[in-house]
Amino acid sequence: MTVQAQGYKIPAAKIQFLPEDRQWIAERIQEALGTGQLTLGKYGAEFEKGFAQFCGCKHAVAVNSGTSALEIILRALGIEGKDVLVPTNTFFATAAAVVHAGGNPILVEMDPESFGIRPEDVEGKITAKTAGVIVVHIGGIVSRRIKELQELCRKKGIWLVEDAAHAHGSSYQGVKAGAFGMAGSFSFYPTKVMTSAEGGMIVTNDDRIAEEARIYRDQGKASFTQNAHVRMGYNWRMSEPHAIIGLKHLERLPSMISDRQKIAGIYDQGVAEFRNLFALKVPEGGVCNYYKYIAVLKDKRDRKALKTLLREKYGVSLSGEVYEEPLHKQPVFSQYVSGPLSVSEDLCARHICLPVFSGMKEDEGRWVISALKEVVG
Ligand SMILES: Cc1ncc(COP(=O)(O)O)c(C=O)c1O
Repeated sequence: MTVQAQGYKIPAAKIQFLPEDRQWIAERIQEALGTGQLTLGKYGAEFEKGFAQFCGCKHAVAVNSGTSALEIILRALGIEGKDVLVPTNTFFATAAAVVHAGGNPILVEMDPESFGIRPEDVEGKITAKTAGVIVVHIGGIVSRRIKELQELCRKKGIWLVEDAAHAHGSSYQGVKAGAFGMAGSFSFYPTKVMTSAEGGMIVTNDDRIAEEARIYRDQGKASFTQNAHVRMGYNWRMSEPHAIIGLKHLERLPSMISDRQKIAGIYDQGVAEFRNLFALKVPEGGVCNYYKYIAVLKDKRDRKALKTLLREKYGVSLSGEVYEEPLHKQPVFSQYVSGPLSVSEDLCARHICLPVFSGMKEDEGRWVISALKEVVG
């Protein structure tokens, strides 16, 4: 069974724009170029309206990245000199946004069940300086304990914010990611479940946060037409060409998620037979968009060598981990480290992410399982 014989070459991720969608996008970009309305225009407004509706939130504010979406939320909430609890197994931007908004990230141990965070670990880190908690729906899984986290924050008088960069369309008990916290941020980076090339979105039911977000994203101006700068904002605007791309992918999102779920179903069946690999389970009542398909190796092994073997011998590229190194091991955050987070260190080193993308064929999914069976078993 060699890759030459089988001919598979499965990438870690693939960005899909159907030919008719490319045409649709190109026509509207032509129109925007013709009118000169290239930023904060009707397509941005339409994208915001559609995304808010999709998430079941009152407001959506489009910005130029998931990173800026997070920073804007934190600036609107006011965290200067305060602590914000952040999982240690998240992308750099989650904790960096706290620093950029003037706060201190306090890194929290990860939950082996969901790869998110557990209320008991959060509770142990809350102090008088804590302003709030950022939960990250890793790989698109919303933890079954999300309501306990909401309740804990309510009881302690602090806010909960969601970094939903991985979780477009994921939900738990009928509530979509982005709608659990005071506000949620999304990323439309190209490898995400949907993209606008670059871009991000803030969703919230809070009128004040939505209003502040609109001010912050446009240089802190009181409004588009006024030149009174009332906040220390920045150029965090989303351009019309980006909004046009995002609008089309938003329309395709349900079918792109369903493609990913089909592949995940094949992986669930296959991995269930393995002795040395366990798939992370989506909780009952949960819907996962499978931004990542996460599986944990029973024993620690050389993951780099495993990835090379899968790629070179079987044509299977594993996707990036969530995360390869926890943030408390990153030199730039060393001043925020208050002790070892051993569960996170172990799980970060011991998991893999199987390739999954919209447009992936079922036989490709089966091939990944055959390859893994030989290599991991
Ligand atoms: C968990 C998480 N938060 C934030 C971001 C930042 O998003 P962006 O790249 O759009 O700035 C990402 C993007 O990779 C992410 O994975």
